[in-house]
Amino acid sequence: MYQIQLNHLVFGRVRAIRGYASLPWLQGSHQAPSVPHAFLLLLIVVCIPIFSIAQTSSPNVFSKAAVVCAHPEAARVGEGVLRKGGNAADVAFAVHFALAVVYPSAGNLGGGGFALWRSTGGEYDFLDFREKAPESATATLFLDAEGNPVPLKSTETHAASGVPGSVAGLFAFHRKYGTLNRADLLKYAIRLAEQGFSITQMQADDFNLYAEKFKSLNPSNKYLQKATDWKAGDRLVQKDLAKVLKAIQAKEEKGFYEGRTAKLIVKEMKRGNGLITYSDLKNYQAVWRKPISGTYKGYKVVSAPPPSAGGLALLQMLKLSERVDFSAFDHKSVDDIFYSTEVQRLVYADRAKFAGDPDFFSLPIDSLLSDEYLNKRAAKINPYTPNKSSDILPGHFPVLEKENTTHFSIVDEQGNAVSLTTTINDHYGSKIFVTGAGFLLNNEMDDFSIKPGTANMYGLTGMDANAIAPGKRMLSSMTPTMVEKDGKLFLILGTPGGSTIITTVYRLIIQVVDQKMTMNQAVAGKRFHHQWLPDVIFYEEDALTPEMQEELIRMGYELRLRGYIGRADCIRILPDGGIEAAPDPRGDDSAAGY
Ligand code: DON
Repeated sequence: MYQIQLNHLVFGRVRAIRGYASLPWLQGSHQAPSVPHAFLLLLIVVCIPIFSIAQTSSPNVFSKAAVVCAHPEAARVGEGVLRKGGNAADVAFAVHFALAVVYPSAGNLGGGGFALWRSTGGEYDFLDFREKAPESATATLFLDAEGNPVPLKSTETHAASGVPGSVAGLFAFHRKYGTLNRADLLKYAIRLAEQGFSITQMQADDFNLYAEKFKSLNPSNKYLQKATDWKAGDRLVQKDLAKVLKAIQAKEEKGFYEGRTAKLIVKEMKRGNGLITYSDLKNYQAVWRKPISGTYKGYKVVSAPPPSAGGLALLQMLKLSERVDFSAFDHKSVDDIFYSTEVQRLVYADRAKFAGDPDFFSLPIDSLLSDEYLNKRAAKINPYTPNKSSDILPGHFPVLEKENTTHFSIVDEQGNAVSLTTTINDHYGSKIFVTGAGFLLNNEMDDFSIKPGTANMYGLTGMDANAIAPGKRMLSSMTPTMVEKDGKLFLILGTPGGSTIITTVYRLIIQVVDQKMTMNQAVAGKRFHHQWLPDVIFYEEDALTPEMQEELIRMGYELRLRGYIGRADCIRILPDGGIEAAPDPRGDDSAAGY
């Protein structure tokens, strides 16, 4: 087995070198050793099953419209709206509010996100409803008198919360593109909150896991707490949350940013020395931005612009990857991991320095995507000789494993599409609920660089571009993306996963476009990730065989096993127009449609 793997590696090199000999990082590379004929035969036999797997048909193929998201109840809501003739914006509105009820770990009223829209005719639009720093926030907010970060202050306190953007965003989005009555679309979420729904096994385990945390951080409420352990099938009823949703139903975004809900938020802030004021809430506005776009091997890729680092980093990775023949590699091979890792390392180094809120900092996007610059970067990759991140900038930082955000993808009967990622940052955000309102506060302030070079909870560092300033949006990795083939919608992609979001979306494109996997195969496939610092390849269980691990370590990589990477809920449009919806099997994620 080991022998096969090593020789397969050689085969990958041969293909890569042949196809790209004149390109920067393949110049002067190894001579391909001659491969015995008998081995080539064996290789063909080994490879045939891989390619035939890639061509099998997928489950979850719908003919007209589909939604794929993190919870079966929310997927049902989405299907209901589609069947009533709702378009993708109607579905996004109803599903986001439903997720705020049935998926409290990440679905939210108290967070923010990004939505990418594509109309039937192929016009794109992008809404930024990312949280903002409150007006009284300062660059040293999370530092003590000596200038050191105060432990947990940017993650588990009221001050960790940015001004929520989700409710403003959903109304702005729906006003521009929706067709159905918004009060009616809110009925689904209100019913789920008022009458309750049955929690899944995963949710029961999760609520039990966080029980102590909820208790200690919420002395004035009992949300998600229960005298005995939660079990699958228990009914979760959220009356206070239903009241807030009804206020939103009656007064639209004013039902959240003003009146009773605003009062409850400000009261909660006072209880815990938080920063958000009435005027922060009243002044919050979502922003329409031009999505970032580029091409990859003839495919058009459209994604999230700053203040997400996602789209820019994704395009940098794909542009660098145009120099590699990934179709020559099995997705589970050393070659595949080597090239992806080196590309990811280079791009994440740029992320730390150059990315931030474009309303506060001018980003050199064109330079970062220019061929001249990327050729120089590509020249740093020498086949099968890993770089060291410490040669670029020193530092080692921890990456925590529990994290959450949520993504959903929608395509409607007319062919409009939505790719939307939304978050309260960490799993259950700050874990602090707004007493009387029943929703969680985000801890998105941790996505700022709280001190230059200090890692956030995802191990990401930053500099001035992402320093805290009043009214500024914190840098994000969320990467809602669409890919077109021959001018037609091909993929709708996105995932949670903090710093791993960008590399997950990048790998999904490589797997589907180059390695001809179905969307479901790519989504279910085991993942790995490199983010420059720490200088480590993180991998999910079974992502690397023991032989691959041995080979990668021999090459000089440090490997670290970790929990799940991402939960991608994606769609691929098949050549016959069928809609392949791919819910991530790592969670309760579900697809619905017809
Ligand atoms: O905006 C960001 O990049 C992060 N707040 C996203 C957090 C996240 O994906 C956590 N989920 N797993």
